[in-house]
Amino acid sequence: MFQYHCLNPIAQVGLDKFSANYVKTDDVNSAEGILVRSAAMHDMEFSKNLLAVARAGAGVNNIPLERCAKEGIVVFNTPGANANGVKELVIAGMLLAARDIVGGINWVAANADDENIAKTAEKEKKNFAGTELQDKKLGIIGLGAIGVKVANVAKHLGMEVYGYDPYVSVDAAWNLSRDVKHVINVDEIYETCDYITIHVPLLDSTKGMINKDAISKMKEGVIILNFARDLLANEADVLEALDAGKIRKYVTDFPNTTTSGHKNCIVMPHIGASTEESEDNCAKMAVKELMNYLENGNIVNSVNFPNCDMGVCNQAGRVAIFHANIANMITKFTATFGDLGINVTDMMSKSKGENAYTMIDLEKEASEEMLQKLSSIEGVYRVRKVK
Ligand code: MLT
Repeated sequence: MFQYHCLNPIAQVGLDKFSANYVKTDDVNSAEGILVRSAAMHDMEFSKNLLAVARAGAGVNNIPLERCAKEGIVVFNTPGANANGVKELVIAGMLLAARDIVGGINWVAANADDENIAKTAEKEKKNFAGTELQDKKLGIIGLGAIGVKVANVAKHLGMEVYGYDPYVSVDAAWNLSRDVKHVINVDEIYETCDYITIHVPLLDSTKGMINKDAISKMKEGVIILNFARDLLANEADVLEALDAGKIRKYVTDFPNTTTSGHKNCIVMPHIGASTEESEDNCAKMAVKELMNYLENGNIVNSVNFPNCDMGVCNQAGRVAIFHANIANMITKFTATFGDLGINVTDMMSKSKGENAYTMIDLEKEASEEMLQKLSSIEGVYRVRKVK
């Protein structure tokens, strides 16, 4: 029996996927699995029971990934599961920036009691006029699941689309409209595009990438959309450029004290993935990843360990070892089994950055002595008896 804890509300259709072998607990310290959306986990201490965290969403900046790795806690996310929800809001964001739709709606609400509203509106409407998306140039930085979907819809809206992503996956490339212009240097996006939308993860290397320097290369009156994470932009620089008229609108899904209420910032309350469909998809995917890991030790879609999938174990035993990605580890593991006279029937070892994960199937169930010996090897973070 496994226990799981939800740090945020998680869609019931996802939780319904748990088999009878799982029980929900209110005590986070007794859980082997945690499901989370945006709860901040950086200050949490993790109990020894915790084996995995599954984030129902894409961004993982609320989770201490490296600390989890060193404690042998696998962190999953759900790439693509909410991409359509976010894509639709990005398109809405472009339309809201193109004309003053919000200002117009507010004007009507404020003048609702005016019996001549229809006539007055005809005079006032010029204040809310704008431009069309057709034939404008859209630059997309980051062609993951969301970026690709935005690119394809924008093409259908008649936009000229430029895409930049030095790490684009084969899958994303297959799904991308062939009419999207492939950009090698991000500066080309800055210099060419009327609309720029960012779809990259928040990393040390991407933090503050939309800054004074990047903005200085952009066209006058550029519209910037940020549905990825607020810290990707240096928002003080963005506001300065908005006030100077260099940027026409900044559309963001991340309210904070810098941008909220500022003229020409269109700020939404982080609702990119707040659709029934996205919440259901994320919950189902997160639960599937968690169950596959807890029951079989398989890792699919982790952000701190490599993918490693050996299917269901049909041998007597399976152990999983979390360790540093350094020389000689496999030799030491196999020597341990050899010394104990245990036959290894299958194994897989994968690495990601400085961390590695090795799964080993055995002819015998793992003994306490074996687990102790493996744990004492230098560079091993954690050993788990899966079966
Ligand atoms: C994500 O990271 O998937 C989106 O920002 C949506 C969310 O956090 O729920």
